[in-house]
Amino acid sequence: MKKICVFGSLNIDMTIFVPHFNAPGETLTGTGMSIFTGGKGGNQAVACARLGAPVKMIGCLGDDANGGMYYDTLVKEGVDVSGLRRCENITSGIAFIEVVPEGENRIALAVGANGLLTPEVARDSEAAIAECGVYMTQLENPLEAIMEGMRIAHDHGVTVVLDPAPARPLPDQIFGLCDIVTPNETELNILTGMPTDTVDEAVAAARSLIARGAKLVLNKRGAAGVLLVTADECRMIPGFKVEAVDTTAAGDSFNAGLAVGLADGLAIDDAIRLANATGAISTTRLGAQPAMPTREQAEALIKAQA
Ligand code: RIB
Repeated sequence: MKKICVFGSLNIDMTIFVPHFNAPGETLTGTGMSIFTGGKGGNQAVACARLGAPVKMIGCLGDDANGGMYYDTLVKEGVDVSGLRRCENITSGIAFIEVVPEGENRIALAVGANGLLTPEVARDSEAAIAECGVYMTQLENPLEAIMEGMRIAHDHGVTVVLDPAPARPLPDQIFGLCDIVTPNETELNILTGMPTDTVDEAVAAARSLIARGAKLVLNKRGAAGVLLVTADECRMIPGFKVEAVDTTAAGDSFNAGLAVGLADGLAIDDAIRLANATGAISTTRLGAQPAMPTREQAEALIKAQA
């Protein structure tokens, strides 16, 4: 299997399980609390490692106790941490997450050391990026660093997967550096300013990203599955039926399954099935990284619902 490189964010997730999302000014008593290692980049890296892929993480942790705890977790999970920076006099990223009984979440983020990821960090990792088969990135770090990493990967012919989360309007150039963009419906709407509620609307919005340079758009549509859109084809690849308890990091898990499938040489439809299964299983367990499945578990779900 080819190597995977993840360039992105690392947060400590403070998750409170609440009966409902609280209203402004309301003090709400939760039913439990957990501290998980999270952040979209770290989640993708750990999910790739759980699926059995060789994966390198490039990102920034603070010099606080949380940073040390996160570093040790990545080592234990088998992630290559040689691209990690421990930044001085700053805290690691923190996410406050509320999860309701239906499994939906709300996240508030303090980026901390993630804000110190620079284009120089990407350039320092050029040799490591060049030897990977798949390069994954997201939007929780400064855009100039994200784009520099993508440019390096793109110039070396590495397959670039952009998870445009948390979504924000982006410059056109970024899409020309992407092989695959994986927005959910809300993210696709924010990226394009176009409606995405129906499949026809989502196809039109995805095609507008293709006009801006993206080669393949995979629109994650929750339990319904994934809408694959290129310049000349569009089709749905159905998802899997599971009982969701916490959807945190479902998108990160999806992207990891996709990257592992591609790094393993699977055809795109099979890689998307692995992605769908990885994302679906992650929603059946609490937390971000504790919820990530092994390759055997993901393949068992694919087989069970074939
Ligand atoms: O995608 C889920 C992640 O978003 C959480 O782990 C949290 O840290 C935020 O980055």
